[in-house]
Amino acid sequence: MLQKILDIKHLDVYVVIGTLVLFGLVETFAGFLKKSRRTSGDWIQEAGSFFALSTLIHPFIVWVIFQVGNYALPGYAQWMGNWNLIAALAFYLLIDDMLQYWYHRSAHEYPFLWKLHRTHHQAEEMGYFVSYRNAALYYLLMPNIWWIGLVTFWGGAKAIILGLIFKQAVIISSHSTVKWDKPMYENRWLRPLVKILERVIITPAFHHKHHGTSKLEGGEPNHNFGNMFSIWDQVFGTAIFRDHFPTKYGLPRPTQDTWAAAYLYPLVKSKDENSELAPGYAHRDTTLPEATTVSVKKGEQYLWCACGKSQSQPFCDGAHHGSKQKPILFEAKRDGKVKFCNCKLSKKGPFCDNSHEVLLEKVEEKVS
Ligand code: FES
Repeated sequence: MLQKILDIKHLDVYVVIGTLVLFGLVETFAGFLKKSRRTSGDWIQEAGSFFALSTLIHPFIVWVIFQVGNYALPGYAQWMGNWNLIAALAFYLLIDDMLQYWYHRSAHEYPFLWKLHRTHHQAEEMGYFVSYRNAALYYLLMPNIWWIGLVTFWGGAKAIILGLIFKQAVIISSHSTVKWDKPMYENRWLRPLVKILERVIITPAFHHKHHGTSKLEGGEPNHNFGNMFSIWDQVFGTAIFRDHFPTKYGLPRPTQDTWAAAYLYPLVKSKDENSELAPGYAHRDTTLPEATTVSVKKGEQYLWCACGKSQSQPFCDGAHHGSKQKPILFEAKRDGKVKFCNCKLSKKGPFCDNSHEVLLEKVEEKVS
């Protein structure tokens, strides 16, 4: 029976579109569209990106793999053809999801990839289409789409169809405003179940945190990189499980990029000179050889910039995105004054330990 269903041509495309329509309808009836501040550019980018991915980029990558495979490795075509479906599904999905975890994580840690992924985080609202919001080149370089091509060439197409259906359902649901896990966290009987579930698959609470603007708004943009399974975040030390949702989404320093610049970078650049997508844009070094004294209030949180590129020193403005640097959250235990480090050499960051004086002495020695 399952084999017959999997024989339906383009089944995965129908099911993914069906999942999008389902989440779209639920979001609409839940009032999402009425409250939404999304622009036409947002819709064009997300829907356009979805259709370009399904009809151009994905088929192109599979075509390339078949051309190269038939030429270089013809003996491996249909290599997986006789595999048990469950074994083929596990083989395809686990490697696919691990590749995507590392690709996604790299897109947060390396500047060029960040520019291709940045638009995904510029969305100030979650929604069923947000998962498709990336530059075209981001998808062309995506290793797991090439992996899909390879597994198809090896004869694992049915495993891919089944895997894509499961995976896209998880990904669309984790980006949606339909927070199906929220009532589970609040119910003492269902809470243990969702706690187990979030340790296996990506839930909305887990992924929404990744889209939160910063730790100050309950987000964790430098964690929770997983796509279908949360196991990779747990294995590689980037998982943060908390049962609340961020209060704010998007980037700390939003810019005015057209959908064309966001989708077609680096072919099209942004006209906003403050954007990382603008021609020649580079983050400035904003470190200073002196501390900033700030009056802090008991219980208030402060996000200290560790990378030395924020334009709001000593605090983080999101300029660390696209690098391995992360800001440090400080919560004041009492009212008072705190000397925050600006040279970013302090061993007691976020607090000044006078490392800047050593730096100043060295500069003075050189001058004299
Ligand atoms: Fe965030 Fe520097 S801007 S750590």
